[in-house]
Amino acid sequence: MSQNKQPRSPILSILFTLGILVTLAGLFFVFGGSELLNQKNESAKKSIHESIDKNLTNLAEPIIEKVVQPFRVPDLSSVPNDKYGDSILRGKDYLEHTFEKLPQFVGAKNNCTNCHLNSGTTQFAGPWIGVVARFPQYRSRSGKIDTLTDRVNDCFERSLNGRRLPEKSSEMTDIISYMTWLSKGYAIGQDIQGSGMPKIVLDRLPDLKAGRVIYESKCASCHQSNGQGLYTDDGHVAFPALWGSKSFNIGAGMARLQTAAGFVKKNMPIGQGGSLSDDEAWDVAGYFTQQNRPDFKNKKKDWPKGDRPKDARY
Ligand code: HEC
Ligand code: HEC
Repeated sequence: MSQNKQPRSPILSILFTLGILVTLAGLFFVFGGSELLNQKNESAKKSIHESIDKNLTNLAEPIIEKVVQPFRVPDLSSVPNDKYGDSILRGKDYLEHTFEKLPQFVGAKNNCTNCHLNSGTTQFAGPWIGVVARFPQYRSRSGKIDTLTDRVNDCFERSLNGRRLPEKSSEMTDIISYMTWLSKGYAIGQDIQGSGMPKIVLDRLPDLKAGRVIYESKCASCHQSNGQGLYTDDGHVAFPALWGSKSFNIGAGMARLQTAAGFVKKNMPIGQGGSLSDDEAWDVAGYFTQQNRPDFKNKKKDWPKGDRPKDARY
């Protein structure tokens, strides 16, 4: 009958040993061992907390002081040679040839860069340097927090008298890629030298007769006496239209006297920025902004909180 006394199988003996080990470990925890381990955990936790606290304190201190940041234009050679770089360059192309490349979204015969000079890299001409860090932002005209794509679409609808580009379109992505590339290195919440359009505010109505004289002598050679601009034989903008059906509509920032006067004073006649006096810029801006131009159908929705600026056209 000795054959019945089978030796234990190796698997069973391993399980048996494991069982004993688990029981021992359990006893170790119950009697004091767990206390020891807990202490170790606590001190590890404490040191993690201390280092997080230290990092938080560092963040609370101003890493970059609130000073006006210098204006830096990145070199085109720094556009990466990859898919992102391709998107940046397509975006730049849309902004420079907007009415030709995106005709379904543009009613005017002008381009974004006719106002945002040198592809959005000129100070005091609405540069896009650092613009990505300025949005989202509250805007009184819309009465809400606007994203950068909202702002881009405002200029599509108003400055180019067109339609809103779908937010998820590849064209919008490319435009944002270009603006992101121009904004590299700028922190959120910093002012940048020469951003935005300068404004002139004089405490008088513009003298439209004087404005007309200045227009004829200093502007008409390029923008034409009838304000209709000049186009090359192959249809590119040589000098953008300043009024009429090819121009921005009454909802555009450039249709406002203070903005138009500031832009003209700093940038026009092109290449001779700063040559007009404030009074001349005010009068000539009064003259061209008040000419006939397309209406803006959603104008009733502007400044919903009632804080309409004085120089708005409606
Ligand atoms: C007729 C002139 C004009 C044209 C054309 C124009 N814009 Fe603008 N744009 C402005 C003015 C004026 C502002 C307001 C600047 C300010 O508030 O100081 C502005 C502001 C912007 C801003 C916000 C800039 C900032 O610093 O906050 C963006 C982004 C922008 N435009 C994009 C575009 C795009 C994209 C196009 C083409 C679809 C375009 N703009 C065409 C005049 C123009
Ligand atoms: C030597 C030619 C020339 C003269 C003179 C000139 N401009 Fe311009 N202006 C331009 C060019 C070119 C642009 C577009 C810039 C670009 O695309 O880089 C422009 C753009 C503009 C714009 C932006 C318009 C838009 O809708 O895109 C305004 C406004 C403007 N000029 C007003 C004036 C006024 C006012 C005067 C006279 C005080 C004037 N300009 C004189 C060449 C000229």
